[in-house]
Amino acid sequence: MFNMFLLCVLLGVCCRDFSISLPQTIEALSGSCVIIKCTFEIREIFDTDLTERARGLWFKDRDTMNDLLVFHSTDPKPDHFNGKITGKLHEKNCTTIFYNITSNHNGNFYFRIEGNGGLKWSYDKTISIGALPPNPQCSCISVSLRCSAETLCSSPPPTLTWSSTPRIPLSESSRLEELISDLNFTATHRQHRVTFTCTITYQLQDENKTAQDSITLHVQYSPKNTSVSVLPSSSVLEGSSVTLICRSDANPAVNYTWSRESEGQMEQLQTGDTLTFDRIDLKHRGWYHCTAQNQHGTQNSSVMLDHSRSFSLIDAPQISTSSCSARTDVTVCFCEADGNPSPELEWHLSGRPVTNSSNTFISEERLSSTGLRSSITLHQSLTHTSTLQCVGNNTHGNDEQLFHLVFITQKAPCKF
Ligand SMILES: *[C@@H]1O[C@H](CO)[C@@H](O)[C@H](O)[C@H]1NC(C)=O
Ligand SMILES: *[C@@H]1O[C@H](CO)[C@@H](O)[C@H](O)[C@H]1NC(C)=O
Ligand SMILES: *[C@@H]1O[C@H](CO)[C@@H](O)[C@H](O)[C@H]1NC(C)=O
Ligand SMILES: *[C@@H]1O[C@H](CO)[C@@H](O)[C@H](O)[C@H]1NC(C)=O
Ligand SMILES: *[C@@H]1O[C@H](CO)[C@@H](O)[C@H](O)[C@H]1NC(C)=O
Ligand SMILES: *[C@@H]1O[C@H](CO)[C@@H](O)[C@H](O)[C@H]1NC(C)=O
Ligand SMILES: *[C@@H]1O[C@H](CO)[C@@H](O)[C@H](O)[C@H]1NC(C)=O
Ligand SMILES: *[C@@H]1O[C@H](CO)[C@@H](O)[C@H](O)[C@H]1NC(C)=O
Ligand SMILES: *[C@@H]1O[C@H](CO)[C@@H](O)[C@H](O)[C@H]1NC(C)=O
Repeated sequence: MFNMFLLCVLLGVCCRDFSISLPQTIEALSGSCVIIKCTFEIREIFDTDLTERARGLWFKDRDTMNDLLVFHSTDPKPDHFNGKITGKLHEKNCTTIFYNITSNHNGNFYFRIEGNGGLKWSYDKTISIGALPPNPQCSCISVSLRCSAETLCSSPPPTLTWSSTPRIPLSESSRLEELISDLNFTATHRQHRVTFTCTITYQLQDENKTAQDSITLHVQYSPKNTSVSVLPSSSVLEGSSVTLICRSDANPAVNYTWSRESEGQMEQLQTGDTLTFDRIDLKHRGWYHCTAQNQHGTQNSSVMLDHSRSFSLIDAPQISTSSCSARTDVTVCFCEADGNPSPELEWHLSGRPVTNSSNTFISEERLSSTGLRSSITLHQSLTHTSTLQCVGNNTHGNDEQLFHLVFITQKAPCKF
């Protein structure tokens, strides 16, 4: 036995001495309880003094000569803390629970073990009890959000609840078990920038205390709601500036590519969210596609630049085709004009407007929402000095086509 002891001394290992294992600080909640996990060790020679009749004492460290006894396991006093040593002292377990925590419990405490014979020891190490509600912790674990909190001593046990801003319906799949609550969902763009808050609620005697932790999700997703808008959005005059703006919701941000489709041909234009025409004109007609792309995908949106479709180009009438055929007694001419708004067409014979009458027959045909075709049939003899004019006008201007009617005996083309 003595040899063994000597060996231990020489090796400097096994000479058990007094020591204690305690958390340094412990957070508690006023009105609830606190469990101090505690184990201790004693010098070997006192092993036989530690029996089932051992006593555990807690002192409040007042930094003075006389520290205050606040708990005695076998001799409780009315002014002592309400509590219980739940560990078995003879098994060196000094785990203690204090009930009905108040601000009086704030401070530093140390433990004293008293056994039979000479075993009486106050441990140096102190524990500090603070009355702060412990916060839950939110974290991301693979496809779910987890809220966890340290199990605390309180009755009834605290509850965890989830909420979100902006509010989104939270799936019912949360599981509550040992103060872990998992929120399962499939992350979509709907959860992007949504802040999830986990709230722990303690039901205490006189009030409910809560503490929270939050986590904001950043979900990456392919372009959504890609759209092209045209500025100005109302009609514009030919020759003015027009901007196409592409917008898309995506994370991370997209890059934009413009292309134009006309007469079945695709033409790459430029990148960037806008496409500007300094002077719009009819040759810009066609389909414009905006492709929004990030590493998760692409989405297209298109707009038609035309008179009539999604974009309305206002322009003064333009007479596109006209021709005449003449015989001795009948002259037929027609004239087509394009413009937006749709033009009106008038015929002037030698400077005077021609109206529908028995010997001048005018018929009109709408070609599209912007095009009009008018033909005139003149049943009258015309002199070689006669001029026939087709005039197209709308609110933005006019265009005219002059026919010098030169009559030869037979079918003769009109000279323009
Ligand atoms: C000490 O006792 C407590 C309460 O009885 C028990 O929960 C804990 O596991 C024990 N600790 C050890 C180290 O045995
Ligand atoms: C805590 O204190 C309240 C009164 O303040 C008392 O009714 C209750 O029994 C106490 N709880 C414990 C566990 O001592
Ligand atoms: C949450 O998702 C995980 C992983 O898919 C699954 O193991 C778990 O059972 C789900 N929990 C609930 C409550 O649906
Ligand atoms: C605490 O919350 C519980 C459950 O929501 C409720 O029944 C109780 O009235 C609340 N107590 C106080 C003091 O607000
Ligand atoms: C797309 O637009 C719809 C309707 O305006 C909206 O409800 C939806 O949240 C938008 N999606 C994105 C990703 O912004
Ligand atoms: C746009 O972004 C995608 C993915 O991030 C990339 O592959 C592509 O080269 C980019 N295009 C342009 C024109 O920058
Ligand atoms: C988007 O347009 C480009 C050409 O502009 C085309 O190659 C691509 O297939 C289109 N993508 C989608 C998703 O429509
Ligand atoms: C001219 O009159 C004829 C029949 O009288 C009619 O069908 C035609 O629409 C009229 N033309 C115009 C421009 O009013
Ligand atoms: C076209 O001009 C005539 C007179 O030349 C006028 O009466 C008519 O209102 C004009 N039409 C439009 C659409 O401006």
